[in-house]
Amino acid sequence: MSISRRALLAAGTGAIAATASGLLSACSSGGGGGGAAAASGRLEVFSWWTAGGEKDALNSLVAEFHQTYPKIAFVNEAVAGGAGANAEAELARRLKAHNPPDTFQAQAGAMLADYVDAGQLEDLSFLYKQQGWDKAFNPTVLKLIQRGGKFYSVPVDLHHINVLWSNLEVCNRLKVNPKPTSTTEFVEQLQKVKKDSKVVPLAIGLSPDQNWQVKHLMETLLIAALGATAWTSLWSVGGTSWSDPRITTALEQLTTILSLVPAGTTYSWDEACAQVAGGKAAYQVMGDWTEGLFTVDYHLVPHQDYEFCPAPGTAGIFDFASDCFTLPVGAPHRADAIAWLTQCGSQGGQDAFTTVKGAIPPRASFDATEKRLFDTYSLWSMQQWQSCTVVGSLTHGVMARASWNAAIDTAITAFVKDRDPQTLQSALVAAGQKYAV
Ligand code: GAL
Repeated sequence: MSISRRALLAAGTGAIAATASGLLSACSSGGGGGGAAAASGRLEVFSWWTAGGEKDALNSLVAEFHQTYPKIAFVNEAVAGGAGANAEAELARRLKAHNPPDTFQAQAGAMLADYVDAGQLEDLSFLYKQQGWDKAFNPTVLKLIQRGGKFYSVPVDLHHINVLWSNLEVCNRLKVNPKPTSTTEFVEQLQKVKKDSKVVPLAIGLSPDQNWQVKHLMETLLIAALGATAWTSLWSVGGTSWSDPRITTALEQLTTILSLVPAGTTYSWDEACAQVAGGKAAYQVMGDWTEGLFTVDYHLVPHQDYEFCPAPGTAGIFDFASDCFTLPVGAPHRADAIAWLTQCGSQGGQDAFTTVKGAIPPRASFDATEKRLFDTYSLWSMQQWQSCTVVGSLTHGVMARASWNAAIDTAITAFVKDRDPQTLQSALVAAGQKYAV
């Protein structure tokens, strides 16, 4: 059974948590009947979903899981830190020590390939065959989660990365456009907000642990400057050069934008959302987990309290990421992990998760009944996914492996301190030469 997001919204977020934790305690104490015969009753799930709508979405998926497998206790091993800022290092330590969780969150694309190549994941092709997922899931996602024709993870969502969010009351009051269409227009709006008010123009965290937010912003500026084809070829040997003058322009724009933001802000992504939701900041460039927080936690209404649109200059492009779950080699409770993965790949599981998270399901098609579970933003996102040119995200795992990401992270940390776009570009050029495949 699918849990409708609307029902959850109407009941409030407390209801989601209560539903999940009620089921949890019932299961932990051995309550309930039915469930997977082979499962031992304990499931350790590792993710980085601890904030706002992420946590609510995980709870919603767990509640759905417990309807199917009431005897399996869910042990939440999430490590806080947006975009896996802390989780990835902790997971690497555990995998190295041969102490894997039963399943862990990964992201389709290059990030997942790191785990596959290290021999840390079991081949899940048997489950794909059994469940018919090789036909049910979106082909773009299927391509990113396989290696040599074998499937190594089960996707639960499709996130839209290049989205600009704005507070409508603030934008109307300050007479700035909530949906600027180019980077130049966006910079003009930010300058106007800064000049005319005490409102923070753009909510973003600048501390080293929030590096990924700057990378996320840089990613959207690069996509705007390069377009879909040149962005995609940036990651291959012989593709777009990292010294391309369009990249120089984008990095200068990044420097200008950050000069309009108070130095030393340390917001996590959800704290940045709270700034926009509460009218303390005008804009945020962030993936659509923001939407889950706005609507589920803050009860904001799209087009009334806040606006969303493609990140400036990226109309016609859908920059995406897809979260997925895996079966690590040596998972202590393998049968329970398979039960979890089966739920993650089901339409009910994906709907329960994505309707709360702000994402869309990674399935090949959405029928009218399924669409009724989704709200204004998600329907827009579905339409964009189906009509735009799709590109993969750097910040959220699709385009570059961990080593390349780490080199870019180091360059960004230095840049946030010295604000020198030329040094940043030189570091990006060097990283590209070293890691392009
Ligand atoms: C992304 C992930 C999303 C969301 C976000 C913020 O990398 O794909 O599911 O959790 O980080 O933490």
